[in-house]
Amino acid sequence: MQILGIDIGGSGIKGRLVDAETGALISERHRIDTPQPSIPANVAKVVTEIVRHFDYRGPVGVTFPAIVQHGVTLSAANVDKSWIGAHAQKIFQEATGLPVHVLNDADAAGVAEMTFGAGREMQQGVVILLTFGTGIGSAIFLDGKLLPNTEFGHVPMPMKGIHAEHYCSDRVRKDQKLKWGEWAKRVDNYLTLMELLFSPDAFIIGGGVSKKFEKFEPYIRRNQAKIVPAQLQNDAGIVGAAMTAYQQAEQ
Ligand code: BGC
Repeated sequence: MQILGIDIGGSGIKGRLVDAETGALISERHRIDTPQPSIPANVAKVVTEIVRHFDYRGPVGVTFPAIVQHGVTLSAANVDKSWIGAHAQKIFQEATGLPVHVLNDADAAGVAEMTFGAGREMQQGVVILLTFGTGIGSAIFLDGKLLPNTEFGHVPMPMKGIHAEHYCSDRVRKDQKLKWGEWAKRVDNYLTLMELLFSPDAFIIGGGVSKKFEKFEPYIRRNQAKIVPAQLQNDAGIVGAAMTAYQQAEQ
């Protein structure tokens, strides 16, 4: 079944039609800049524009870069603070007139990677997907099942006194003009901490840096878990959102 997946990010909002059963991308990507300020009413307008662009009627899966519990957004690290406590799901449903399911962006990417991407052969044990972008997103799976809203990007780095995403996100790499090796050492410290906490069998590295995996992988030495790049790259969130909306609609 064709389902519309929409990925809300700090700089862009992107939509695509997805075959929710096979993960195949059916349409081109339609992208609109994230409105500023990124307050609920403005974002809802863009989500509606994307629905109209595809002349779509049906369940919609939407990712959001925050904790999303039962449709309510509970944090706002890289979007307008007025999202904290907002009922995102209701807001998008009222704006579009369609059934909407909202979930965390990294959780959505993780669901897609575990089903169609780098994690499809990793259905046993503990797998952690980390997305390195403006922030750091996380999704953890035990035997293929997601534990949602983990927010490992906000784990404080020991001795550094800052959140992991202010230490080794891709934005930090760019802003501080870190060489790949310098940035990778930070990622290595972060993965070591994650390993101490969860002893995962594997890490899946997602976000824009997954395309540059060979540039930093040689510097990551200290961890025991397998490390692999994500495979679905930019569209993982859209695919995971569409899959989740489809499953919800079927229940
Ligand atoms: C947010 C997470 C999100 C991640 C990636 C973090 O700042 O707190 O909810 O998954 O960025 O967008």
